[in-house]
Amino acid sequence: MFFWSENKIKWYDRAAKWTRYHEHLADEISPFLVKGEKICDLGCGTGHLAIVLANRGYPLTAIDISEQAIDFIRREIGKEQTELLETKRLSWNDIPQGVQWDTVIMNFTGDITREFEKYFSLCSRQLIYIMRRFNYSSVGNREHSQRYQDINKEMICAIERRGAVYETHEFEFEFGQPFISIEEALDYIRAYAKRAGGEKYLVEKIENTNNQHYPLYLPYKKRITICVIKK
Ligand SMILES: C[S@@+](CC[C@H](N)C(=O)[O-])C[C@H]1O[C@@H](n2cnc3c(N)ncnc32)[C@H](O)[C@@H]1O
Repeated sequence: MFFWSENKIKWYDRAAKWTRYHEHLADEISPFLVKGEKICDLGCGTGHLAIVLANRGYPLTAIDISEQAIDFIRREIGKEQTELLETKRLSWNDIPQGVQWDTVIMNFTGDITREFEKYFSLCSRQLIYIMRRFNYSSVGNREHSQRYQDINKEMICAIERRGAVYETHEFEFEFGQPFISIEEALDYIRAYAKRAGGEKYLVEKIENTNNQHYPLYLPYKKRITICVIKK
């Protein structure tokens, strides 16, 4: 289970703003959305994707179990004056029966191998399930990458077993991390890559920037599969 902390939210927000990752993601998701339909970003985390989509004119409900994440989105909505976004602190286990959206987006959350029916029952038109693809250049080692590759296969198998009609689209977007100092970079690595030789990886990969606030940058190409599962 993923838990947000103050630091994780701060780093994620900084990486999102630096790389504009969610703008790129929204570019690829938008063709599957219809303006005016009911859309839910389920397990929305810090809400960066939901805010971009709402700013592009898609009314959206953003739901997450984490109080810290939802508090963060609410503060961001205030700053951006995003009007089309409703937020709810809620577990997907507690969504009342019968509640449905046309499209449910789940981005790096949930476990479709175990809970496919639960998520699928929440949408009437499609589930857009975005997942990580294995990545040898990510923070970690080969064993770690192999694990993600296997999880990927299991997820696709889970969809096929249900006989659902789906299409997959693969992308790679930069989602690296800017840092104010090497000390901060080490804190980041300790928070995210405890078991995976992260400090060695950091020392090898970290780059200098010309930015006075964030003089260090850890590049990262995030490789994703967008899986559109139709009703
Ligand atoms: C890895 S984060 C991804 C967040 C966001 N979708 C993104 O891509 O940045 C997983 C998110 O799922 C949320 N989550 C986990 N279990 C949940 C549940 N039962 N109901 C709602 N949200 C949940 C977590 O709080 C967390 O924000």
